[in-house]
Amino acid sequence: MKILQCNPGQSYARNKEGLNQKIQSILEGGWYILGQEVGNFETAFAQYCTAGYGIGCANGTDAIELVLRGLGIKDSYVATVANTAVATVAGIECSGNTACFADIDPETFTISPDSLERLFAVNPDIKAVIAVHLFGQPADMDRIMAVAGKYGAVVIEDCAQAHGAMYKGRRCGSMGIAGCFSFYPTKNLGCYGDGGAVVTSDPELAERLKALRQYGWTKRFLSEYPGINSRLDELQAGILSFKLPYLDADNQRRQQIAARYTASLRDISALKLPGAMPDCGHVYHQYVLRCSCRDELRAFLAEKEIGTAIHYPVPIHRQEAYSARKLWVNLPETEKVNNEILSLPMYPELTDEEVDHVISSIQEFFT
Ligand SMILES: Cc1ncc(COP(=O)(O)O)c(C=O)c1O
Repeated sequence: MKILQCNPGQSYARNKEGLNQKIQSILEGGWYILGQEVGNFETAFAQYCTAGYGIGCANGTDAIELVLRGLGIKDSYVATVANTAVATVAGIECSGNTACFADIDPETFTISPDSLERLFAVNPDIKAVIAVHLFGQPADMDRIMAVAGKYGAVVIEDCAQAHGAMYKGRRCGSMGIAGCFSFYPTKNLGCYGDGGAVVTSDPELAERLKALRQYGWTKRFLSEYPGINSRLDELQAGILSFKLPYLDADNQRRQQIAARYTASLRDISALKLPGAMPDCGHVYHQYVLRCSCRDELRAFLAEKEIGTAIHYPVPIHRQEAYSARKLWVNLPETEKVNNEILSLPMYPELTDEEVDHVISSIQEFFT
């Protein structure tokens, strides 16, 4: 039984007829960029996130860049983690800022508020914190907002892996000054190309973002700001509107799969299974366990045609593009995880039979 680690084609196969109709009607409509479909999706997605405004853009990296530009933050330091998609840091640096790193909490893989506090203590010039809700797990927003607030910095949420995740009754994306989303095909809400969005409840920021994503235009051909081209297209927006009503059920299925993995693997002492923040809704973009013999386990599963992944193999401060950056605080937990982490197959269309095959194969490895 061949099982992929992620399989976005199955989300298309499941709703092929409806999606084909939607795509055909958009193509026949003759309007392809920033039209009614984008507007409808922006409204629906902002509402879903309990935010005032939604602003579509071309991808999640641009969403981060646009928010920093929209806030007028440049030539400054922006704090985040080194154990995230490199896109988080690319967005920071494309906006003309420099990323600096706090360590992660080893239980949740998200930014450690204590380490963030240490980072501010040595570098009080940090103007923004990007809290990444990594793997679908909300970062500890109350504590992060308190630390950032103490130093006068804003908090931006990187929700690229956390569509629909909840933090103590609040939707991820609705707590910081803005939430940045990617709709890359494998995401919990994914389109069939590139796509992204910002949600915010700040009306002035929303207005500026709408201008900045299209050459800084506030009126056609009139640029009030030096903007970029980062537009969401009608096809992707239509696909996202079609898929949004399925997001909660898809997230519930991810939670069921995670619970099945956890219930069956918890007795294997060589594995450290992912923890979930109390009072939160983890949406399991990834199910990431830790294992000291990770490479052997991964090879064993590959032989059985079970796909796995490593998110991420090299922390960002160790990558050539960013390794010259000054490290203000030590990152012992970040340094440790990349040799141990393994992402198991995770997508809503996985059947119980497939999940059980992954489980029994892991059990077989350890017997
Ligand atoms: C945590 C995180 N931030 C940002 C991004 C950037 O999204 P995109 O690939 O749409 O630019 C991603 C997507 O991979 C991500 O996982």
